[in-house]
Amino acid sequence: MADTPLKVMGLSGSIGRQSKNGMLVDLALRKAQENGAEVHFWDLEDAFLVSSPEYHGTMSGVMKNTFDWVYDQHVGGKVFGLMSTLGGISNSNTLNHMRIMLRWLHANPVSQQLAVGHVKEAFDDDGNLADDGMTARLDSLVASVLKTATMYRNM
Ligand SMILES: Cc1cc2nc3c(=O)[nH]c(=O)nc-3n(C[C@H](O)[C@H](O)[C@H](O)COP(=O)(O)O)c2cc1C
Repeated sequence: MADTPLKVMGLSGSIGRQSKNGMLVDLALRKAQENGAEVHFWDLEDAFLVSSPEYHGTMSGVMKNTFDWVYDQHVGGKVFGLMSTLGGISNSNTLNHMRIMLRWLHANPVSQQLAVGHVKEAFDDDGNLADDGMTARLDSLVASVLKTATMYRNM
């Protein structure tokens, strides 16, 4: 078990992987894969990287509805990395609301998180984050998810 790669799932709160949230989840999954994890876009795994657009100050209906179909027997004790995108100034509303929702599912979001504000300008033409500071935060988030999932697996 210790030698098998960590399994990480990505989940976007917008429909379509060409959405900015789909792009953000793709970037985070690629980083996790570079660090040895086995990645999937939707399955029940060791860890989850999820990103929701902020809609009217909270997560999208797609994100909430997805979790309305999930119970603690599916994600209880699993590790989550949380991201959100906003059309306007970055804030933590959606991230905080997702944390509260995950508490009811007995899941464990890591403390690092990423809110990408002014999302229309946030990505370059290659689909990478334009700002190096944001890229560093994404790398730190993914590293924390993998480290925490490894610790949980070895407990
Ligand atoms: C119904 C709706 C509500 C929105 N509410 C907010 C908001 O409260 N704050 C904000 O900064 N952006 C808001 N936006 C902009 C979205 O956050 C932005 O379009 C989204 O993060 C882009 O992600 P996507 O490319 O995955 O759709 C809203 C967009 C829509 C369609």
